[in-house]
Amino acid sequence: MYIDKAADYVGQVQTINGWVYNSRSSGRVAFVLVRDGSGIMQCVVAKGDVEESTFEAVRHLTQESSISITGTIHAEERAPGGHEMHVQKIEVHQAAMDYPITPKEHGVDFLMSNRHLWLRSKRQWAIMRIRATIVKSIRDYLDDNGFLLMDAPILSANACEGSSTLFSTDYFGIPAYLSQSGQLYNEATAMAFGRVYCFGPAFRAEKSKTRRHLTEFWMVEPEMAYCNWSQNCDVQEEFVTYIVQQVLEKRREELAIIERDTSPLEKIATPFPRISYDEAVKLLQQAGSPIQWGDDFGGDEETLISNQFERPVFVCSYPKSFKAFYMKTNPANPQTVLCADLLAPEGYGEIIGGGQREDDYTLLLERVRAEGLAEADYQWYLDLRKYGSVPHSGFGLGVERTVAWICKLPHVRETVPFPRLLEKIYP
Ligand code: 4AD
Ligand code: MG
Repeated sequence: MYIDKAADYVGQVQTINGWVYNSRSSGRVAFVLVRDGSGIMQCVVAKGDVEESTFEAVRHLTQESSISITGTIHAEERAPGGHEMHVQKIEVHQAAMDYPITPKEHGVDFLMSNRHLWLRSKRQWAIMRIRATIVKSIRDYLDDNGFLLMDAPILSANACEGSSTLFSTDYFGIPAYLSQSGQLYNEATAMAFGRVYCFGPAFRAEKSKTRRHLTEFWMVEPEMAYCNWSQNCDVQEEFVTYIVQQVLEKRREELAIIERDTSPLEKIATPFPRISYDEAVKLLQQAGSPIQWGDDFGGDEETLISNQFERPVFVCSYPKSFKAFYMKTNPANPQTVLCADLLAPEGYGEIIGGGQREDDYTLLLERVRAEGLAEADYQWYLDLRKYGSVPHSGFGLGVERTVAWICKLPHVRETVPFPRLLEKIYP
């Protein structure tokens, strides 16, 4: 039996294959908390109900020993999960000695270097299950709304998001990099399939050590032909609202385990406010920030802005100077581009970057040259503007930042099973 299915087995004798999460005993009765990956069950062993040797063995069970435990399943309101087992038999597969992560407090460095074990703890269990639901909601929404999955390559000769964060490889005889984003390929597949998405890992050799940056992260990137920047925002607000609602519906127990106050999440609904970069700069200046028009926003600025709104907020039309080469020039103000970043509330900041793509061949070629990109490598990408170019837009949502926000975690390191951070590759 799996613990999460206990309700189906009330009154029956069943076996759970799992690990000892915790145990305590008095002279006459022992309680063993057993986890099997699907949940945690309180197992009660009464002296007299089992053989003397079994009771003694239970009293000496150590944390994280692997066991099979057999007994009757009972409904029990006071037990975690609402069920408990009255034990008849225990088989110990391996007795764990000196498990390093004890119920006492440990420092983050210690836990990070024991990530392979830390994942067994209740809080990490809850976060990873919420992450899995976020990923499933992402796929469900896109699959059910006319987007076709189009996997983008990981190895690429093209830089998408600037040359300063590239991971290079030495194999093809020419420079090739781990993908920073599948977007450029999405633009090609969108012209073949209309609405597409890619979903996979992205790599950035980020030199910054912040609570928002990983060197390897997961990103979902939808791309739509015949779509302008504002229609692109319409899709994003529906998409993000759906993800939050799914988590609220399916992961109540996990949200409670991590003590997430869900009231801010209940407020997430369409439409999301949209402000321009100009307005955002004014808002920051009023709040005392020294920021000037033309400066990029860092984490602090994003936090300040997102704190002013209960819903995620779009910041639109950033200056061209610090945005990617593919963004479409804003006809109303050519110093800016038709893009929008989506900042999550509660101070979380950017979770989505997106916008409309430059669809004019000449203007795009100018941008490729101005950025000093090798023109020859972008011929295929420029081709898309020669053969049936159309207005098109898309966006990229970072999974780890979304998990951090929805779980209200202080750092992205707990949002993925094995985080890759600046100078951090073990385990
Ligand atoms: O804003 P970014 O760089 O946009 C792109 O890559 C576009 N090509 C996406 C597109 O339009 N198809 O990244 C998009 C999102 C960010 O908003 C953030 O959530 C996440 O990816 N992200 C990171 N997450 C963790 N660590 C990092 N180093 C990240 N860099 C970006
Ligand atoms: Mg961005």
